[in-house]
Amino acid sequence: MCAHGNAGALARDAGVKSQCMAVYLDNNATTPVLPEVLAAMQPYFSDEFGNASSIHRRGQKTRAAIEKAREQVAKLLGAAPQEIVFTSGGTEGDNHALFGLLGTSIQPGDHVITSAIEHHAVLNSAERLRDLGYQVTFVPVDSRCLVSPDEVRRALRPNTRLISIMAANNETGVLQPISEIGRIAAEADIYFHTDAVQAAGKIPLNVAELGCDLLTVSGHKMHAPQGVGALYVRKGTPISPLLFGGRHERGRRAGTENVASIVALGKAAELAQAWLEARGAEQMSGLRDRLEREILGGIEAATVNGAGAPRAPNTANISFDGIEGEALVIALDLKGVAVSSGAACSSGAIEPSHVLTAMGLPPARARSSLRFSLGKQTAAHDIDAALSLLPETVARLRSLSPAWSRHGELVR
Ligand SMILES: Cc1ncc(COP(=O)(O)O)c(C=O)c1O
Repeated sequence: MCAHGNAGALARDAGVKSQCMAVYLDNNATTPVLPEVLAAMQPYFSDEFGNASSIHRRGQKTRAAIEKAREQVAKLLGAAPQEIVFTSGGTEGDNHALFGLLGTSIQPGDHVITSAIEHHAVLNSAERLRDLGYQVTFVPVDSRCLVSPDEVRRALRPNTRLISIMAANNETGVLQPISEIGRIAAEADIYFHTDAVQAAGKIPLNVAELGCDLLTVSGHKMHAPQGVGALYVRKGTPISPLLFGGRHERGRRAGTENVASIVALGKAAELAQAWLEARGAEQMSGLRDRLEREILGGIEAATVNGAGAPRAPNTANISFDGIEGEALVIALDLKGVAVSSGAACSSGAIEPSHVLTAMGLPPARARSSLRFSLGKQTAAHDIDAALSLLPETVARLRSLSPAWSRHGELVR
């Protein structure tokens, strides 16, 4: 049975009143909106309510706010403002990147390369392309969760038109060799998209250095609200809209703009840049590294997945042999610590993460994994709190686990 559907009931059974999470370590799922971001967006719900397409002053004020946000997002990516298209989030950005080239420069029968560890926004789009008659190659990853540029080169065909490889994996945080893949794409004159949803705001990104034509960003992974994002489209890339209607976003995305959220994304991008310049990422990876070190030092049969590969500073993916990750998520939740497991619920059964299985983890170890993901609000005391609960919680679940013998070993 999938456990997460029962989390609410379990919490009630345990007498836990609906309470705010004391410790939130699930920032790859979503991040809280920062106070400065909330303050920046708030006027656009009330006083500044104009439609940016209106000619009157009220409209022009919101137009100016959108264009300021476009500059802020462009700056974070080293892009020109005209190259930024605002979207409803990462899923739309990825879909737009993969489907927007169709009918312009890509035709059925053409070949697309992506990887086995993409987010489902790319994976399922690629599956759909295959259904529509495109050829699709899913390149594998190694045990560290890395796509090899040589594999990408080997996968090239004369009819390859698009490569889509993510910048940072959402489950392991592993950073892919995007610049190298960008060079391969450029040499072969192939469009290159990268899903940078989990990289933006956490590591410096520059579209020229990455060599990408398209890059996806999502607001709610970088302390802006859910439901807003941006797609970078390199000047001259022939992309058609997904949504047809008015001439919004220079004809690339129809629909009255979500002004408040766009303003928020701009502000979040500005704050992220300042945070990166102030070496915030180094501090964050210091906390993450301590979390990993103390878990590995204090809990037997724990493994960091993706260790040894370059990683985003905020993500730790750790397997605890002998237990189900979902059970550990719920046990920690009851104690006020929010983390996640990469397992997915499918037809009532727990499916191990496609990312961890692509890395070669056996299904049981993949299912025993937890993802801890830090945010800009995470402090040392949050890490301390998680560390103080984990050993006992893992030990208790192992004592109940048929996969873990009484002698404290994994039954093979
Ligand atoms: C790597 C990656 N791409 C795309 C998405 C989808 O973004 P959104 O939730 O904004 O649609 C996510 C969300 O988890 C993600 O982690």
